[in-house]
Amino acid sequence: MNYDANGALLTSEIPGLPMINRGKVRDIYDLGDSLLFVASDRLSAFDVVMPEGIPGKGKVLTGISLFWFELMGWLPNHLITADISSRPELKNYVSDLQGRSMIVKKAKTLPVECIVRGYLVGSGWKDYCKTGVVSGHKLRSGYVQADKLDQPLFTPSTKAELGEHDEAISFDEVVKLIGPDYAARIRDLSLKVYQTAADYALTKGIIVADTKFEFGIYNGEVILIDEVLTPDSSRFWPADQYRPGCSPPSLDKQFVRDYLETLDWNKTAPGPRLPQEIIEKTAAKYREACKVLTGGDI
Ligand SMILES: Nc1ncnc2c1ncn2[C@@H]1O[C@H](COP(=O)(O)OP(=O)(O)OP(=O)(O)O)[C@@H](O)[C@H]1O
Ligand SMILES: [Mg+2]
Repeated sequence: MNYDANGALLTSEIPGLPMINRGKVRDIYDLGDSLLFVASDRLSAFDVVMPEGIPGKGKVLTGISLFWFELMGWLPNHLITADISSRPELKNYVSDLQGRSMIVKKAKTLPVECIVRGYLVGSGWKDYCKTGVVSGHKLRSGYVQADKLDQPLFTPSTKAELGEHDEAISFDEVVKLIGPDYAARIRDLSLKVYQTAADYALTKGIIVADTKFEFGIYNGEVILIDEVLTPDSSRFWPADQYRPGCSPPSLDKQFVRDYLETLDWNKTAPGPRLPQEIIEKTAAKYREACKVLTGGDI
């Protein structure tokens, strides 16, 4: 296990267990019948992994994902268990991995990032300003930045190869990629999960402005995989500070993105070192999002 000076887990190591993928944030191991899905404390911004981690971030991401999986019991998802102590091959790593790991079903991933937008911000806002169209949806005129959309939109994108950025695609292009049945299924599920979560979050004073899901196929069934509705995959805004027309302060990764925008950095690897104050504030934002949404301290 490789921790940085602040105690953030940068990379995991489990000798004897094959690692099948190291994503920007997660280390994924093959357990034979299933996968071990470990959320490190790595932070990626603008698709670049930063040299320092955010202590506790992986536990926050895991705790929030588990919370949503439990809240949406009707939703077919990849979770088998978050208790890794039962697996003999992991017994020496329980203190490092418990809380930041899940044992999940080995799914065949569908090559689409399922973005749902309830509000017009970020790249959706930029596309709207340029063309009036967001991922194939022609929108009415008159929206201002961060406006609530008349109805949430499914705005898929490609799953980019390492080092590339995702690209917005229309629903028709999703149909071409995975066929009409899977396309309709992941669109409908994405919109339903978003609406359920957005309604819930609002009761806690949080707006889910947008979010990203991934789906996979397991035993012929479409299941939700990856992390869900976390500060990495979503924009969370405190509802009491929301004003259409300007981008609100956020309880998510936007905080560190805003800091990085103040630097003279060209957004390619290697990422700049983060000041201690930014690391601590970012860690606090993640913990706060977790506390407000789930009621649990991490
Ligand atoms: N149940 C599952 N079965 C198979 N693959 C999964 C499952 N859940 C998530 N994944 C894949 O694991 C990866 C998650 O790792 P991480 O979030 O670090 O990746 P990323 O940086 O978002 O993307 P990339 O994999 O392109 O680096 C994603 O590629 C996702 O598609
Ligand atoms: Mg990811």
